[in-house]
Amino acid sequence: MKILFLGGGNMASALIGGMCERGFGAGNITVIEPDASARERLQSNYGLVALTCPDAGVFGSDVLVLAVKPQQMKAALAAFAGALQEKTLVISVAAGLRLVDIGRWLGGSGVPHSKLVRCMPNTPALVGAGVTGMFAAPEVDAAGRELAERILAAVGSVVWVDAEEQLDAVTGISGSGPAYVFHFIEALEAAGLGQGLHPESARCLAIGTVLGAARLAEASKDAPSTLREKVTSKGGTTAAALAHLAATGWHDALVGAVDAACARSRELGEQLGQG
Ligand SMILES: NC(=O)c1ccc[n+]([C@@H]2O[C@H](COP(=O)([O-])OP(=O)(O)OC[C@H]3O[C@@H](n4cnc5c(N)ncnc54)[C@H](OP(=O)(O)O)[C@@H]3O)[C@@H](O)[C@H]2O)c1
Repeated sequence: MKILFLGGGNMASALIGGMCERGFGAGNITVIEPDASARERLQSNYGLVALTCPDAGVFGSDVLVLAVKPQQMKAALAAFAGALQEKTLVISVAAGLRLVDIGRWLGGSGVPHSKLVRCMPNTPALVGAGVTGMFAAPEVDAAGRELAERILAAVGSVVWVDAEEQLDAVTGISGSGPAYVFHFIEALEAAGLGQGLHPESARCLAIGTVLGAARLAEASKDAPSTLREKVTSKGGTTAAALAHLAATGWHDALVGAVDAACARSRELGEQLGQG
């Protein structure tokens, strides 16, 4: 099976690294990447073929993974317009870009390409700990969905959604979510400093707490709300902290933040698809 990556930057490198560890042969992977240092790094790390621009041989690839910046996509797809074979499964990891626009750009003046899967990964994918929301066009069969899932599972877990619009919600929760968590870590660290801890200790405690709580939530049969109740003794320290958080309207503020991210995702989808 021939797999072609368009773009060989951070996300493509993470996917390729994870795929090679999971038995996808590097000999079947080709990357198109204009940057010479990125091409050399991919070639020497994985022994794959990296090209400056598409040649005639790439249009028959079984899979095309679109991993350029959303703003670069329309120009990058111009070389493929009308040239890609109908069988090619196209998997986009580009934030915000809608399948109707990608399909239209790939089709050129002919029939839009329809074997399309759109994914919304997140930054922890760069360390193999991502979570990706995925949506497949109706033209993608079960084997195509399974293949797309195997590729994205190389950098973490995956969640399928039933409608493409739900990827705006995925963007608001898990796409932008790492920034909310980083912000939470920053605040916890600052609180530790304020309580007189050494900077390294404050950071270590803040990051370790988030990591440990997430792992416990993942491993436990209990819902996060139950886990929270279990560590909140009446009249204790956690109860004092949670009462303060509730009084600040923290929960509603976070829900409002996600709403703002989802709304911005919808707006960007409109803008990016123009032309
Ligand atoms: N990084 C993340 O955590 C993350 C999370 C979710 C989604 N994504 C999505 O993943 C995609 C890639 O992001 P990234 O972080 O990997 O970006 P990146 O590191 O900038 O990689 C994109 C690469 O594509 C290259 N490129 C530009 N034009 C090209 C063309 N015409 N043909 C082939 N390659 C071309 C760029 O080269 P130059 O640098 O020379 O322009 C760059 O090396 C984006 O669409 C983004 O929305 C990324």
